[in-house]
Amino acid sequence: MATITIRVQAFRLVAVLIVSVFILVLYLLRQPTHSIDSDVNIETAPELNADASGSRWSIGRAQLWYASQPWLLGANYLPSTSVNVLEMWQDQFDEITIQRELQWASYRLRMNTLRVFLHVLVWMEDSIQFFKRLDTFLDIAQKNNLKIMLVLFDECWNADPHLGEQPEPIPGVHNSQWVRCPGQSMVLNKTSWPILQEYTKQVIYRYRSDERIFAWDLYNEPECSKQVHIVLPLLRYIYSAARSVSNVQQPMTIGIATWPLSTRLALFELSVSDILTFHSYSTLVNLMQNITDLRQMEPGRPILCTEWLARPFGSTLFTHLEYFQSEKIGAIQWGLVAGRSQTYYQWRSPANAPMPKIWFHDVLYSNGTAFSKLEERFYFELNH
Ligand SMILES: *[C@@H]1O[C@H](CO)[C@@H](O)[C@H](O)[C@H]1NC(C)=O
Ligand SMILES: *[C@@H]1O[C@H](CO)[C@@H](O)[C@H](O)[C@H]1NC(C)=O
Ligand SMILES: *[C@@H]1O[C@H](CO)[C@@H](O)[C@H](O)[C@H]1NC(C)=O
Repeated sequence: MATITIRVQAFRLVAVLIVSVFILVLYLLRQPTHSIDSDVNIETAPELNADASGSRWSIGRAQLWYASQPWLLGANYLPSTSVNVLEMWQDQFDEITIQRELQWASYRLRMNTLRVFLHVLVWMEDSIQFFKRLDTFLDIAQKNNLKIMLVLFDECWNADPHLGEQPEPIPGVHNSQWVRCPGQSMVLNKTSWPILQEYTKQVIYRYRSDERIFAWDLYNEPECSKQVHIVLPLLRYIYSAARSVSNVQQPMTIGIATWPLSTRLALFELSVSDILTFHSYSTLVNLMQNITDLRQMEPGRPILCTEWLARPFGSTLFTHLEYFQSEKIGAIQWGLVAGRSQTYYQWRSPANAPMPKIWFHDVLYSNGTAFSKLEERFYFELNH
């Protein structure tokens, strides 16, 4: 009896061992399955796209690219005559103003870079016209030695963009008519996402080796609309679409806009960006801490601050620019010319607020006079 029991137990043990080894082998051989919609593991997300064209740049490639760039200094740009991005790219496209203002950026402030937002609705309406205007803009930028970072999507401000005539700015209110891209109806409607995918692919494919563009910012502040659980899957979907384009010569990035860096969103952004970009409207001490954190999370990657400058918050040209320059951190402030977006008013400024003594963003009046002569001279002497 005893020997039989021992044999049965030994047999069971061997069987369990064989099954365990079999399961382990299966586990080790498993193919990562990746469908665009699936909630992929953040840590492995970039590797899942590791085909020849579509993987994240190595640190070495990113560093090599950055070494070939000057210290990038510039502004987020909306023509002073545009109330929002739709007005910039639709029939109101204002070539004369763009020419004038890009000359100021280049020759008076010695900027070499602009960050510019696009809008999918304009592309949907007439992609040929959309690309024609974008080419015109890029030509003007090139003539003025300004390289462009294009932003494909944006989750900030008004949720319901419409083509056609845009509303007038609300007096006294900061960025009163800025619109998200896509609007909330498309974000919520997965059936419409392939349109966003097609736009992403077409725009990146067309300019993938165009020297007028220096980088792709795929999605501005995905957390801005306070619905990360909805936007994150879309962000991943857009990211996959962007990476599916082969031979893209410019780095891709999704900017960090909120700390701490341990959120699902921040971890995703950090794990897919070729170059690190972030936003800070705070003091230099805060910003330096932010940069320390970024360097700790993703050592060795070039860093650009793609939104800053809020004078009343202690984020000024005098406090920040020399630091950016000494660390070769790209510096792209909010706003160039004070215009219909009214970003010289503070966030949450009430309707009919008086013109502030200290501007929030922006550096020039629409007639070209500088908000501060000292600032203008500071720029001019800094970057040469
Ligand atoms: C969702 O998007 C699809 C594709 O654009 C469109 O045909 C459909 O009407 C949309 N559904 C809703 C509820 O808006
Ligand atoms: C980074 O800067 C933001 C303000 O822009 C601040 O709220 C945040 O605490 C900073 N992060 C660290 C680690 O200091
Ligand atoms: C430009 O506009 C500002 C503000 O309206 C005004 O103070 C300044 O005198 C103007 N400069 C010129 C050269 O017209």
